[in-house]
Amino acid sequence: MNIGFIGAGHMGSAMIEGLLKAKTVVPENLFVKGGSSGTAEALQEKLGFKLIKDYAALKECQVIFIATGAKIVLEILKQAAPNITKDTILISVATGHTVEEAQAILGKEIHVVHAIPNTPVSVNAGMIGAVFADDMPVESKAEATRVLESLGKVEEVSENILGTFGTVAGCSPAFVDIFMEALADGAVLEGMPRALSYEIIAQMMLGSAKLAIETKKHPGELKDGVTSPGGSTIKGVTALEKNGFRFAVIDAVKQANS
Ligand SMILES: NC(=O)c1ccc[n+]([C@@H]2O[C@H](COP(=O)([O-])OP(=O)(O)OC[C@H]3O[C@@H](n4cnc5c(N)ncnc54)[C@H](OP(=O)(O)O)[C@@H]3O)[C@@H](O)[C@H]2O)c1
Repeated sequence: MNIGFIGAGHMGSAMIEGLLKAKTVVPENLFVKGGSSGTAEALQEKLGFKLIKDYAALKECQVIFIATGAKIVLEILKQAAPNITKDTILISVATGHTVEEAQAILGKEIHVVHAIPNTPVSVNAGMIGAVFADDMPVESKAEATRVLESLGKVEEVSENILGTFGTVAGCSPAFVDIFMEALADGAVLEGMPRALSYEIIAQMMLGSAKLAIETKKHPGELKDGVTSPGGSTIKGVTALEKNGFRFAVIDAVKQANS
């Protein structure tokens, strides 16, 4: 299968890395068109895919991803449309448009998916929200899902919650990164070497997430399991509450989603 990419910035490159790691596509069958800054060229040197200068090679692709900025995505789709052939699966990960708007440009014979991934797709541990065109044939939907699942977990969602999905799954890695950095600052303050702190904290986050996923326990129940009466954890929890931790997180989601 040939896969095409329009846009190889932060998200495009994360997906390209993930698809190659999963061997969903080999470099010889991956066609990437970048913009003007040379980002795609630098990535090509590292990963060895086929760099394309115009949209013509997209004719040979069964699946095409578009990962450009939200403001230009529909304009770029208009330019690329003559080279996107019947029954191609077009997966747009750009925010700010609907499946219907993309189909109005490409025509109903192109199977449009609007997916919002997050950067962990580069290590095949992404969380991807996907809206499939209503009229998408079952086989195309299965094929699009198979490709996306090689990048992480896929949740089919309705278009009206895709924006919030993007905030919670797509923006939150940055919130979590800040949390990890702050935890490490605390550890360093208490005398632990910084490199060791980051190693311990990342593994702790991975383990906590795995525990929540595998046990399906409510987060409050998991927290209760760590907080013994009068113990050190509840003292830390009290400090977080006193400093408005929950409100800060809720407000971050609200502001990011506005
Ligand atoms: N980053 C995330 O975590 C995330 C999560 C979910 C969804 N998204 C969505 O994904 C899209 C891309 O986000 P991003 O963070 O990857 O932005 P980005 O780093 O700015 O990447 C956009 C890329 O599009 C390229 N581009 C511009 N015009 C082009 C053209 N005519 N042909 C081919 N490539 C072109 C740019 O190339 P040059 O710079 O070389 O010109 C740039 O590398 C956005 O719509 C965003 O909302 C991002």
